[in-house]
Amino acid sequence: MKAMLCKENGPIESLVLEDFELPPLGEGEVRVRVRSAGVNFPDILITQGIYQFKPAHPFSPGSECAGDVLSVGPGVTNFKAGDRVIAMTGHGAFAEEVNTLASNCVHLPDDISYELGSAFVLTYGTSIYALLQMGKLQKDEWLLVHGAAGGVGLSAVEIGKAMGAKVIGTASSDEKLKIVTEHGADEVINYSDGPFKDKVKEVCGSAGADVIYDPVGGDVFDQSLRCINWDGRLLVIGFASGRIPEAPANLALLKNCFIVGVFWGAWNKRNPEGHAKNMDILFQWLREGKLRPNISHRFPLAEVPAALQVLVDRKVVGKAVITID
Ligand SMILES: NC(=O)c1ccc[n+]([C@@H]2O[C@H](COP(=O)([O-])OP(=O)(O)OC[C@H]3O[C@@H](n4cnc5c(N)ncnc54)[C@H](OP(=O)(O)O)[C@@H]3O)[C@@H](O)[C@H]2O)c1
Repeated sequence: MKAMLCKENGPIESLVLEDFELPPLGEGEVRVRVRSAGVNFPDILITQGIYQFKPAHPFSPGSECAGDVLSVGPGVTNFKAGDRVIAMTGHGAFAEEVNTLASNCVHLPDDISYELGSAFVLTYGTSIYALLQMGKLQKDEWLLVHGAAGGVGLSAVEIGKAMGAKVIGTASSDEKLKIVTEHGADEVINYSDGPFKDKVKEVCGSAGADVIYDPVGGDVFDQSLRCINWDGRLLVIGFASGRIPEAPANLALLKNCFIVGVFWGAWNKRNPEGHAKNMDILFQWLREGKLRPNISHRFPLAEVPAALQVLVDRKVVGKAVITID
């Protein structure tokens, strides 16, 4: 089978499409025939060798996919060959086939396509966990979502609305903000026009937003601490801007706010039942039309580097996917 391989860490152009033989299935593993794989920011970081996890070389990036179970390893009872699944592989999904733990998989309902399944779990799973369990977002609270046209950002806008919050989305262009509005944001702010903190306070009519969802970091995080409401929750999701910010503790004190770290990938391994419950809620909202994943780019397996490049170039709105025939 063919896989897009990282043979040593480096730029995304160093990935190569080659024949690759998977090892035999271990205890608790399943082999999945990949039909569609979602493209995510961590796929870039893992290729460059700067992500939390550093797999042994050669490996294929690709942190999530949807496909069919080909075979199951010893001890697997909840999946069988032929089942449609979504797999959160961590890496390995930019390939025709991938081995992964059965515990990383959920059944893909028949009425949801492989493409949607592959573009759904990582972003929406992160955002529901962040907003429900960690942010404790309440109906009618103001939610400020940064990078709102990105993968996790657009999912947070939709989930915030599904939870009954009022949502402000930020992004770097008016074209992106138009789509953020189409996906439910009540207000939008172009943060490339300059500082946004006063605009946020104006919109909220108070000291600021009750919950702030920040996958961007850097200056965006710094300003967020200055427009968060009393008792607010600032959710640390990621650092797409490239700078990990440092929080001045006096501001946290003065604002009486919480700075909350969110590590969804590790949480769902520690709490598979909580993750399964979140997935049930998400599938229900998807069927009700409250969630509408946006796929702006599609690429074949041979063009994974180009797919990662559109993410680097900030061109993706929602998600890019790799389609494997
Ligand atoms: N904590 C968790 O459990 C968790 C889970 C998944 C992802 N993440 C993290 O969340 C972040 C976003 O991931 P994603 O997959 O949603 O990525 P994405 O689709 O590329 O979205 C990131 C957004 O950040 C904005 N951005 C600002 N400065 C940027 C820069 N220098 N380069 C690229 N984008 C920039 C872009 O919007 P504008 O152009 O509008 O500014 C872009 O839409 C990453 O850091 C990722 O590691 C964390």
